[in-house]
Amino acid sequence: MPAIVHLIAAARPNFMKVAPLWHALSADPAFDVRLVHTGQHYDPNMSDAFFRDLGLPEPDHHLGVGSGSHAEQTAKVMLAYEPVAIAERPAFTIVVGDVNSTAACAMVCAKLLVPVVHLEAGLRSFDRTMPEETNRLVTDVLADLLWTPSPDADENLRREGIPETRVERVGNIMIDSYELQRPAIEADGTYQRLGLAARQYGVVTLHRPSNVDDRDTLAGLVAQLVAISARLPLVFPVHPRTRKQLNTFGLWDTLAAAPGLRLSEPAGYVQFMNLVSHAGLVITDSGGVQEETTYLDIPCLTVRPNTERPITVTEGTNRLIRPADLQAAVDRALKGEWPRGRRPALWDGRTAARCVESLRARLPGGGLPAARSVARAGAVVTP
Ligand code: UD1
Ligand code: UDP
Repeated sequence: MPAIVHLIAAARPNFMKVAPLWHALSADPAFDVRLVHTGQHYDPNMSDAFFRDLGLPEPDHHLGVGSGSHAEQTAKVMLAYEPVAIAERPAFTIVVGDVNSTAACAMVCAKLLVPVVHLEAGLRSFDRTMPEETNRLVTDVLADLLWTPSPDADENLRREGIPETRVERVGNIMIDSYELQRPAIEADGTYQRLGLAARQYGVVTLHRPSNVDDRDTLAGLVAQLVAISARLPLVFPVHPRTRKQLNTFGLWDTLAAAPGLRLSEPAGYVQFMNLVSHAGLVITDSGGVQEETTYLDIPCLTVRPNTERPITVTEGTNRLIRPADLQAAVDRALKGEWPRGRRPALWDGRTAARCVESLRARLPGGGLPAARSVARAGAVVTP
């Protein structure tokens, strides 16, 4: 009997982490992989578009939780996922990244004694004002198996007392998605269709609550972007949270009126990566984009005071920039004075294959079971 594996997908940055794993697990007869979409992101351009671009099937379970406060959203995911986990009793539930659904499903499984595997474990911004930091801490303390992307993540987990037997460095799964879609990304003509010349434009993404939920902060960023766009055309696919806040604060029209600034709906994965891979620079507060630009050796100006992905700074092209310093940083990048980077080890497009091997070794009777499941083997679960 193949082992049932639940793969949890919830929000935009999850889909490119889940897709390579879904493809690799479904090609292996040892596994019966089932995709669970919590519905945290639900707009067609925040969800369905990624299923299409990344070759994912319809989810086996769609929990339809939608938006809400942190507690509300987390609780809704727990309530909706618990009966699914009880009914199917997966051998493993794989959660990815650091969104509310990640922590919620990890919590459900921990109580049902379903082994939890966390892909992208160990990242820390050391900034508890970020909701994601809480999700990372909760998920990692509960996970039976922690798949990390980089040595800094291993070190964080070691410092927190997570036993080394539970930690395995598998590399960065985002790069697998990029490599799987590379032919489509290269064939896609989005930047040319927009009338842009390679390396002669910038891409912008912003959605962190710390940047977009405060009126003054967002107004300051809007002013910087308008000024930069007078020198460098900018393409800005706007996240729904950001769109809402720009409208609430009456800032949308200022951005839309800037001739060099092109606002759009959130872009599909292939289109977005076509834009990023031909850009001269990227201005962002996204986690994933910091990694993609490091892989592609493109200057990345991250408008945040910290990052949970320090390797993109120490080895890659990412730099943390204060809003007031954005224009000077753009100048440096345009003059070719931006530091070059190198690709971190194991960011090689083969992370999903390593994950499958890691899971195979832990199949019942097939090797090491996940650490905490051994300790709990005698426990009785009464749902
Ligand atoms: C979430 C994650 C964040 C991640 C981001 C990726 C948490 C705590 N946050 O933030 O870590 O970086 O996704 O994009 O899990 N909305 C829509 N349509 C959608 C989804 C959201 O209109 O399909 C709007 C709603 O007004 C919603 C708001 O965006 O209230 C925020 O959505 P939510 O999922 O709560 O957080 P994100 O900011 O998207
Ligand atoms: N992305 C996309 N279209 C967009 C913006 C982002 O396809 O308009 C992709 C991109 O690959 C990026 C990923 O979505 O790495 C991450 O999403 P997001 O920035 O929303 O989340 P974070 O990584 O910050 O959690």
